[in-house]
Amino acid sequence: MALKKIRSVKPLLYNHPAVTKVESKLAINSKFNTPSLNITRSYTMESKKEKSKYGDNMALVLHGSNNLKIEKRPIPKIKPSQVLLQMEVVSICGSDVHYYTHGRIGNWVVKKPMVIGHEGSATILECGSEVKTLKPGDRVAVEPQVNCRKCHFCKTGHYNLCENIFFCATPPDDGNLCTYFAHEADFCFKLPDNITLEQGSLMEPLSVGVHACRRGGVTNGDTVLILGSGPIGLVSLLAAKANGAKQVVVTDIVDFNLQKANELGADCAFNTGSLSDEDILSTLRDIMPEPPRVTIDACGFEKAVKIGMQMTKSGGKLILIGMGNDTMCLPMSVCTVRQIDMLGIARYVNDYPTSINMVSSGKIDTKPLITHHFKFEDAIKAFETAKERKENIIKIMIHANPKWKPEC
Ligand SMILES: NC(=O)c1ccc[n+]([C@@H]2O[C@H](COP(=O)([O-])OP(=O)(O)OC[C@H]3O[C@@H](n4cnc5c(N)ncnc54)[C@H](O)[C@@H]3O)[C@@H](O)[C@H]2O)c1
Ligand SMILES: [Zn+2]
Ligand SMILES: [Zn+2]
Repeated sequence: MALKKIRSVKPLLYNHPAVTKVESKLAINSKFNTPSLNITRSYTMESKKEKSKYGDNMALVLHGSNNLKIEKRPIPKIKPSQVLLQMEVVSICGSDVHYYTHGRIGNWVVKKPMVIGHEGSATILECGSEVKTLKPGDRVAVEPQVNCRKCHFCKTGHYNLCENIFFCATPPDDGNLCTYFAHEADFCFKLPDNITLEQGSLMEPLSVGVHACRRGGVTNGDTVLILGSGPIGLVSLLAAKANGAKQVVVTDIVDFNLQKANELGADCAFNTGSLSDEDILSTLRDIMPEPPRVTIDACGFEKAVKIGMQMTKSGGKLILIGMGNDTMCLPMSVCTVRQIDMLGIARYVNDYPTSINMVSSGKIDTKPLITHHFKFEDAIKAFETAKERKENIIKIMIHANPKWKPEC
């Protein structure tokens, strides 16, 4: 019976009759960044006298809020453990837009010019002498971090929590929206032939969704509620479905994002708009007769987290990805007495191989997330488009390779 009811809801963009059109006054929320501490990678830069066999290394550099410039940078020389990358596609993340708009995220302040971008794919140009698993010409997804490899977290397999991590485009660390970039080879993952370079760049956000589902233990037959249908909510939906979830319900307050969730396989996409908490809860309980064993918050706003706490099945898991409100007033006993685990997410750790496999095997298709393409020379326009949000945007691709041509 319950399944029948769910199926009947599926094709609809579910709008509660009481919902009036919502003018979202909520701030664009893209506040995530873990401490980028003080590892500044030491590249030997190409000497001015040396003639490069490559073209100019152009980079999109953030000089402070609303101040992006395209600038020439030296071509980095690689260390034995590194590869030199021709950057191909770098997609814009909410955190990049936040740095562009505000010049900071929390305590991470752009104090000196910083190359922006961290969601990249690339082609390998050169390999350092210690690199055995990659070769020039390989296409790779670039995991945009390098950990210290020495601390307790690194040694115990939690390198995403490393206290001395380098992370692209988190001040003061430079990102990879540039022509040439040097990176540790073991953070570059070869892309199978059936994965495009655009999909390669999307391994970064996808890995956040894969990591969230892994933390929640999402498996065959699970019911999952996802709060927020931006890029991160959508990749969480894709990962939950790929893990075998039998019902995934997604909420948002913007119809376009909910339509996208439907397109990507949500069993129901529900506009919570200006509804009261009581109305949201009663509607969700109607849609989900079996409460979600796993709820994934992918917006981080108090209103949504509250719903997540109340909806999650006793003994279930509430996964916190969103970074909307820093301080919240929450009904804690709802979680305590029903023994709900609230689990934080710090990006991803060892998740790139799973993400690549999920796309390569056809379990996940990230192509529908791509809404915009820009040439590198139009990168500032791309950021303006992302900032203004006048268009329906999920993911914007910037093509860092000057040879890229739009498909006709
Ligand atoms: N923890 C991590 O590792 C990590 C990694 C990446 C992003 N993030 C954070 O995850 C969040 C989502 O990222 P994104 O890029 O998709 O951001 P986004 O801003 O594009 O998407 C958030 C979505 O939530 C919707 N929303 C707002 N209020 C809502 C509510 N009350 N109920 C349901 N939906 C609501 C918005 O309309 C929007 O579509 C951000 O806060 C981001 O900073 C965290
Ligand atoms: Zn990102
Ligand atoms: Zn470490």
